[in-house]
Amino acid sequence: MKQLIKKIFSSPSLRLRLFFSYVFHPHPDEVMMKEAFEFAAHSNVSGDYLEFGVWKGRSFIRAFHTWKYILLNNRNLSGMNFYAFDSFEGLPEITSNEDNATGEFKKGEYSCSEEEFIANLKNAGVDTARVSTIKGWYDKVLNKETRARLPIKKASVIYVDADLYESAVPVLDFITDYVADGTVIVFDDWYCYKGRADMGEQKAFSEWLSRNPAISALQYKQFNWKGNSFILHRN
Ligand SMILES: C[S@@+](CC[C@H](N)C(=O)[O-])C[C@H]1O[C@@H](n2cnc3c(N)ncnc32)[C@H](O)[C@@H]1O
Repeated sequence: MKQLIKKIFSSPSLRLRLFFSYVFHPHPDEVMMKEAFEFAAHSNVSGDYLEFGVWKGRSFIRAFHTWKYILLNNRNLSGMNFYAFDSFEGLPEITSNEDNATGEFKKGEYSCSEEEFIANLKNAGVDTARVSTIKGWYDKVLNKETRARLPIKKASVIYVDADLYESAVPVLDFITDYVADGTVIVFDDWYCYKGRADMGEQKAFSEWLSRNPAISALQYKQFNWKGNSFILHRN
């Protein structure tokens, strides 16, 4: 046994090194979430957590527990509430040529009911009194009426994980008024569509910035093979 351990650490094969790096390295998505919340807490960008594209709750649960962890040392985000925006029916019909271009995404993919999502949150120890779900297709529900109904004032951290250009457009238009000086926006699928700037979240984000010259974006952290994030500023 001693010999085996010695062998592993003295001349580890690539496979073993990869195994150990997976086991002992923190997950890059967890690191991203922690850094987004740390930035918001340190910079006192108080506001809510908004996630667009929640599926079974994986990243949403991660956000909640990251917040609890950050609160242990910094109370700036103590008033945070958590908003989950999703069709709860998976991806919509993919109509645009761009969203169909690489065949990466399919209608109905990532379907999870609202009930299952809430049950997953409860099982994972999330305080659902702080959570609101907004069910529906973004092009239908992300509107003035929903904005008037929700008590959100500002967003601290926004997580966009809805895969498609056509989904990112209404999401970005909806969040415009919630952007504070220092809001962190995370795009989970930034480098999908072969990393092309004229597709997916990249295209929606650059168009949104052009429509909103009062907002500028500072490149923040890239994470895993497809994610990217920005700090938004009010000019
Ligand atoms: C990749 S999944 C989200 C994964 C989740 N963030 C996680 O880490 O497990 C994409 C989600 O976006 C939602 N979605 C995509 N486009 C949408 C649209 N136009 N309207 C409503 N929901 C949409 C889907 O229902 C799905 O739950």
